[in-house]
Amino acid sequence: MKVAVLGAAGGIGQALSLLLKTQLPAGSELSLYDVAPVVPGVAVDLSHIPTAVKVEGFGKDDLDQALTGADIVIIPAGMPRKPGMDRADLFNVNASIIQTLAEGIVKNCPKALVGVITNPVNGTVPIVAEVFKKAGTYEASRVFGVTTLDVIRSEAFIAELKGVDVASVKVPVIGGHSGTTILPLLSQVEGVEFTEEEVASLTPRIQNAGTEVVNAKAGGGSATLSMGAAAARFTQSLVKGLQGEEGVVDYAYVAVENGDAAYFAHPVRLGKNGVEEILSYGELSAFEEKAKNDMLETLNKDIQEGFDFINK
Ligand code: LMR
Repeated sequence: MKVAVLGAAGGIGQALSLLLKTQLPAGSELSLYDVAPVVPGVAVDLSHIPTAVKVEGFGKDDLDQALTGADIVIIPAGMPRKPGMDRADLFNVNASIIQTLAEGIVKNCPKALVGVITNPVNGTVPIVAEVFKKAGTYEASRVFGVTTLDVIRSEAFIAELKGVDVASVKVPVIGGHSGTTILPLLSQVEGVEFTEEEVASLTPRIQNAGTEVVNAKAGGGSATLSMGAAAARFTQSLVKGLQGEEGVVDYAYVAVENGDAAYFAHPVRLGKNGVEEILSYGELSAFEEKAKNDMLETLNKDIQEGFDFINK
């Protein structure tokens, strides 16, 4: 198993790479790419951790080498938000970065499973897909927006609110990865009941949790550690699917035919080709149905921005 992290020297990339060094199956390779000159040092640093995962660092001119033979590529590269910014404000700077990296993937490992963290995820995932389409190598089952942070935040907040064991909390989160497009399905959380007031306050807290971190970091960036943990968890699901483990289901922002939008976070069953099946998100409460319908205009606009950028 070769896993490449593009943007490995940044805050998310380093946290993610650390977790992957300790969690990937024995015999795996971890390929760290970044334009920042510190990346070989990050690789040397990680290589001193005694696990059977080989780490190599690649600088800005070595994208091809970093990607050759990769089974999974996770992309946290790009600029983070500052207070007062929305994820959509990152589009202009991050769109070109994601395009360049996607072109590298198409050239060097077109069969890899690609997990996109670079914001705004609602628009960068369509860019990656369009790059694959232009090269004639697109398989919708292999391209994912990583929305796991919305899931793990929901788990943490609900466990805290209800005083229950966090390991027992499972929360479906659908839609996109920005503001109101993030829709936690609190009506489907097993073993926990919420009052209407709790739903009305917890839903926006989950939707704005990224901003909570951005404001708390006061100009020092956005979530890195929790995003690293979320991305590591999602990567592990991809790895298990690739290894042929049965019944691997996780949430991700994927291309959907005849769905709510061209891209929408769903529960997906993962396997050797990435998405084996897009699962239904089930029945929504009246509150969730309205929230879903209300967010679609924003989500469609974000997706269209990605299409327009690549087809300009
Ligand atoms: C998050 O959800 O924390 C990330 O998408 C970063 C951000 O800008 O909010």
